[in-house]
Amino acid sequence: MIELEGLTKRYGEKVAVNNLSFTVRPGIVTGFLGPNGAGKSTTMRMILGLDHPTAGDVRIDGKHYHQLKDPLTYIGALLEAKAWHGGRTAYNHL
Ligand SMILES: Nc1ncnc2c1ncn2[C@@H]1O[C@H](COP(=O)(O)OP(=O)(O)OP(=O)(O)O)[C@@H](O)[C@H]1O
Ligand SMILES: [Mg+2]
Repeated sequence: MIELEGLTKRYGEKVAVNNLSFTVRPGIVTGFLGPNGAGKSTTMRMILGLDHPTAGDVRIDGKHYHQLKDPLTYIGALLEAKAWHGGRTAYNHL
C-alpha cells in the first residue's frame, strides 16, 4: 500500500505538488492522470525517495523508501516512457 498525506513540493516560488493525499491499495491497477505539469513525475520521485517533500509524508507499506530492505526487489519503477525496451512485453517490464 502506498499512502500519501499532505504531500507538497515547492521549487522556490513554484508549487509543483500541493497538499496531495491518496492511498494506492494492493492488488488494484491504479491510474495516476493529470495534464502536463500537474506534478505526476514530482510525486513519483517523492514516492521513490528521489526528491524530498517540502511538507507531508509518503509511505510504502508504512515505511519511507529508504527504510525498505532491498527496495529494488520490492518496487519497480519506470519514470519516463523513454526507458521501455521494444523487445520486452508489458508483463516483463512489470
Ligand atoms: N526541478 C524543478 N525545478 C523547478 N520546477 C520544477 C522542477 N521539476 C518540476 N518542476 C515544475 O513543477 C511542475 C510539475 O512538474 P512535473 O514534471 O512533476 O509534472 P508532470 O505531471 O510529470 O508533467 P508531464 O505530464 O509533462 O510529465 C511543473 O510546473 C514543472 O515545471
Ligand atoms: Mg512527468
